[in-house]
Amino acid sequence: MLKIYTGSPEETVEIGKQLGKLLNSGNIVCLTGDLGAGKTAFTQGIAKGLGVKDYVTSPTYTIINEYEGRVPLYHFDVYRLNDVEEMHELGYEEYFFGDGVVVLEWADSVRDIIPPERLWITILNTKGDNSREILMEPTGEVYQKIVKGMEPNESIGS
Ligand SMILES: Nc1ncnc2c1ncn2[C@@H]1O[C@H](COP(=O)(O)OP(=O)(O)OP(=O)(O)O)[C@@H](O)[C@H]1O
Ligand SMILES: [Mg+2]
Repeated sequence: MLKIYTGSPEETVEIGKQLGKLLNSGNIVCLTGDLGAGKTAFTQGIAKGLGVKDYVTSPTYTIINEYEGRVPLYHFDVYRLNDVEEMHELGYEEYFFGDGVVVLEWADSVRDIIPPERLWITILNTKGDNSREILMEPTGEVYQKIVKGMEPNESIGS
């Protein structure tokens, strides 16, 4: 597990960007953390790292937004999902096992359908200020390698 501290939204975006640069087709990034933890900020960084030019916002009413980058970015926000069944209805498999990078906000609420190999990220706002703890837990070789590539950022904000 890799733990990175940030002291501002901009720093969180920057860490997301570093990660985005290392991601490739088929990668799945699961984001968890309380309301306002910084999941969308982190996703905006991932988008930058993937070369997405559009501004990424939370797909509040649509569950999923697609962006064009070096590879496509499929940004899910399942906060308003009532049932995992809705993921089947929107054909999530095509995204999860497709040609893009999947980022899932509130991933814990759809745990059952998440492939065993993925990068799990928890963002914690433990102090109630602008500092955040970003925990990266990779499962599988692909994701372990990606997290290794993030290690130079370890000292940021600590
Ligand atoms: N270090 C930090 N990293 C990220 N965001 C921070 C940080 N410090 C303060 N913030 C603030 O926290 C908020 C994070 O909002 P953001 O929409 O990214 O969170 P979220 O986890 O996606 O929320 P939601 O659960 O509503 O989807 C922003 O208002 C941002 O300015
Ligand atoms: Mg959000």
